[in-house]
Amino acid sequence: MTKRLPSLDILVAGDVNADLLINGQARFEQGKELLLDDATLTLGGSSSITAFNLARLGVRTGMLGWVGADAFGRFVRERLEEAGVDVTWLRETRAMKSGLTIWASSGARKAGLTYPGTIARLRSRDVTAEALGCARHLHIGAYFLLGGLHRGAGAVLARARRLGLTTSLDCNWDPSGAWDSGIRAALAHTDLFFPNEPEALRLTGRRNVRAAAEELAALARVVAVKRGAKGALVHSKLGWLEVKAPRVRAIDTTGAGDSFNAGFLAAYLEGKDLEACAERGVAAGALAVTRVGGTPAFV
Ligand SMILES: Nc1ncnc2c1ncn2[C@@H]1O[C@H](COP(=O)(O)OP(=O)(O)OP(=O)(O)O)[C@@H](O)[C@H]1O
Ligand SMILES: [Mg+2]
Repeated sequence: MTKRLPSLDILVAGDVNADLLINGQARFEQGKELLLDDATLTLGGSSSITAFNLARLGVRTGMLGWVGADAFGRFVRERLEEAGVDVTWLRETRAMKSGLTIWASSGARKAGLTYPGTIARLRSRDVTAEALGCARHLHIGAYFLLGGLHRGAGAVLARARRLGLTTSLDCNWDPSGAWDSGIRAALAHTDLFFPNEPEALRLTGRRNVRAAAEELAALARVVAVKRGAKGALVHSKLGWLEVKAPRVRAIDTTGAGDSFNAGFLAAYLEGKDLEACAERGVAAGALAVTRVGGTPAFV
């Protein structure tokens, strides 16, 4: 029997939700109603932002995850479809509401509140062999928010590799503060790991970013540490790579890391070397911060 060629370059599995970005106040005052300068409902979700931007960069992208049968669920599905993301594997449930993140910012201050909802519903059994068989690469975003996947994430990534896919993982901040949740088992089956600097330090308990990257690269094959305006540091068995970020006027950093992942992965799936991948990642991250929200700079 001849094997069908994958119809997608990448399957992104993880959090799919809306972001409500409010600007002008970064705190609540008990018993008071405060006025905002701006409010924007936009595509959020670390994984869904990466998927959207990958599709806009011309990569054949599918999104696997859950939304609720509600207005937020319809909103994110429409945004992904507009970008050209294949939503065959985006499932809807009536049993739970869609997740939502509120980002409140005022000047340089920023605070986030997340209602996990369907974000935590994703299970390893949802990442079927049929879905994996459609793609060349599996990316999982926002690992620490995916409570339902923690026990099976290592097995999912291992299954993807057995089916011939390469794999990547972003962890994002761990709201539980545990900095474990089975991530080491998942990293053992990960080709590319994309933490930011504070996350890499927390995960390893190190004070030095190079020591943290080295320790993490003993688990995953390649570790690309995102360093905000400083750019990125990549460690693999080939050694170190440092890519500086271009100077840009940063308006809003929401989704910068997710956009970095999209740029890096777009180059990786074109077969580029790690330096070119890191450069594309840094360029995509720098582009993202020039607009409010994680995707508007890619529309
Ligand atoms: N102020 C900035 N100026 C230029 N580039 C930036 C700036 N902030 C972020 N970037 C680019 O975006 C990339 C990712 O940013 P960052 O390190 O903030 O990721 P992150 O913390 O994972 O983001 P996220 O909030 O999406 O999780 C950086 O490596 C850099 O290339
Ligand atoms: Mg991040």
